[in-house]
Order: sequence, then structure tokens, then C-alpha cells
Amino acid sequence: MEKSREYAIEVRGLTKQFGDFKAVNKIDLNIEKGMVYGFLGPNGAGKTTTVRMLATLLEIDGGTATIFGYDVQTEPKKIRPRIALTGQYSSVDEDLTGKENLVMICRLMGFSRKDSKKRALDLLEAFGLFDAANKQTKEYSGGMRRRLDIAASIVVTPDLLFLDEPTTGLDPRSRNQVWDVIRALTKAGTTVLLTTQYLEEADQLADRIAVIDKGEIIAEGTATELKASVGSGMLHLTLKNEADRTQAESLIESSVGLVLSESSRAAEVLVKVEDPAIATTILNHLAEAGIELVTFSLSQPSLDEVFLALTEEEEA
Ligand SMILES: Nc1ncnc2c1ncn2[C@@H]1O[C@H](COP(=O)(O)OP(=O)(O)OP(=O)(O)O)[C@@H](O)[C@H]1O
Ligand SMILES: [Mg+2]
Repeated sequence: MEKSREYAIEVRGLTKQFGDFKAVNKIDLNIEKGMVYGFLGPNGAGKTTTVRMLATLLEIDGGTATIFGYDVQTEPKKIRPRIALTGQYSSVDEDLTGKENLVMICRLMGFSRKDSKKRALDLLEAFGLFDAANKQTKEYSGGMRRRLDIAASIVVTPDLLFLDEPTTGLDPRSRNQVWDVIRALTKAGTTVLLTTQYLEEADQLADRIAVIDKGEIIAEGTATELKASVGSGMLHLTLKNEADRTQAESLIESSVGLVLSESSRAAEVLVKVEDPAIATTILNHLAEAGIELVTFSLSQPSLDEVFLALTEEEEA
């Protein structure tokens, strides 16, 4: 029976204390079903601690948390069959092959011998590991191992999957492969709580993001909202002729009265713009004055800049 229709995860004032130290300090979360939710923070921010409490693996010290409407403290047995966790550290047996690892887990889950073999091979195929099925996993690359880890945690497709730093330490190619796996999972309707230290990862995968630092959530929203919250976009103009730069700059300043940022490149003009419509005005003015451009682009601040701005605010 479904208790909560909207939310996969609802958290109020969740707290975890180790001695005097508050690893997680009164956090609130609302995570809708079907969403990929990014939990973004640096080392020691409290990500794993939060995930372990939500996955009913660690006692909570304060506040409340429900998973699909069930209380993590009083109803863990209702929660466990519906969730899976891929931990920060690999849990596969190094001496077994990929196939043997998955078959073993299927058997533990109560699958028959025949069904176990079928499920293992299907998963290996789906995760691009079919050719490595009979290799010992100690011979797997980091990316292959992470994919096997994720495969192992979805032997039975969970309604909610916790992925704790699924791509930390992977090269860009392996990271992309893991991202593809995560995208495929969410298409099938699984809600995902993804912890990461990588802003780009949250940007690529997450529908919403919470930024956590020192046990507290310091910002929450979509990637676009988080970027917008720290300020304006930047218009990059590359002039065909460097000699036009002074004229272009004074034209922009007099027409729209905007602050120009210093650029190290002689042919480049950078303008901070709050409203994308202003970019059009600027381009028109330049065209009327006969100033030719090679390229122009309007960019939002990167999530890295957002993250730095947020964590610096905290420090100040
Ligand atoms: N069992 C424990 N006993 C004491 N302190 C702990 C324990 N587990 C975690 N901590 C502390 O709580 C804080 C948060 O740890 P946590 O593992 O949740 O961080 P994290 O965000 O997952 O970091 P990372 O990105 O490095 O995995 C850290 O300062 C850590 O040292
Ligand atoms: Mg961690």
C-alpha cells in the first residue's frame, strides 16, 4: 500500500551526531518520485551519513525521515524491500567473475539457479559488461567495477536507489558510461538520490540539487536556479578587428550602461548581463556601428562558480 503519493523522500530536521560533532545538522528535504536528486558537497559534508540514515542503516539522532511515507525509525522493514544502495566503496568480490558476482546476489535474493543466470547475463549486457562476464573483477577497470556495483544493487529493480559518489575517481570516459547507466535507470521510473562532489555531474543528471556543507544544506533548487541565484550571465564577444575594441566598449557602456569585465584577450569583450534581451540590443548597436564579430556567446555562471560563491558565503 502506498502511503505517500508525491514524495519518495521527506525529511525534517534530520540530525546525526558523533560525540559532540554534528555530522548532519537539521536538514530538510522533499524528493519527488521519479526524480534524480543531486546531493552535492565536499569531503566530509555529511553526504554518506545522510544516505545511510535514509537507507535505514544508521540510527537517526533527531528529526524525522520518511521513505515512500514510511518512517525510517519505526518502519524500516517496509522500506528495505523498495530501496537499494550503491555505496561509496566497491562491494563486489574481487576473486569472482562479473557473472559469478551477479549470480550469487540473484541467488541471495531468492532467484532460482536458472533465473539467476538469466538475470545476471541480462544485467551484464545492459551495463556493457557482457564481454567481461567471465573475467575476475580484480581485472576490471574502475569504470567497469562501478557499473558492476550498480548492476549488483539493482538485481531487483528498486523504487529508490541511493548512489553514493558513483563516479568518484573515474576517468571522463568511464564517468560517461556510468552516467548513461543512471539515465537508463531513471527512464524505468526509479527515483535516484545521487551524492557527488562533482558539480558537472549534478548539472548533467539531477533534476534538483541540494548543496550540503558542514552538515547543513546551504542551497537547494534546479541547476538553473542555483546558477541564477549567484548572479548574472556573461556575454562573450570576439571582435574581428582588435582595433575596434575601444569603440565597441564605449558603445556598449553608453548604450546599455553595463559594467565590462577585463579580458586578457585583445579581441575579446566581456559584458555582464542580467537579462538575455540586453544581449540582442548590444549586438544591434555593434552591427549599426559597423563593428564585426567573429563569435558571440551568452553563458550562465558555471556550477563551480555557484558552489564557490555559496561555500565562501558560509565562511564569511
Ligand atoms: N562513525 C563515525 N564516527 C565519527 N565521525 C564520523 C563517523 N562517520 C562520519 N563521521 C564524520 O562525519 C562527517 C561527515 O562524514 P560523511 O562520511 O557523511 O561525509 P561525506 O560527505 O560522505 O564525505 P566524502 O565526500 O568524503 O565521502 C565527517 O567529518 C566524518 O569524519
Ligand atoms: Mg561519503
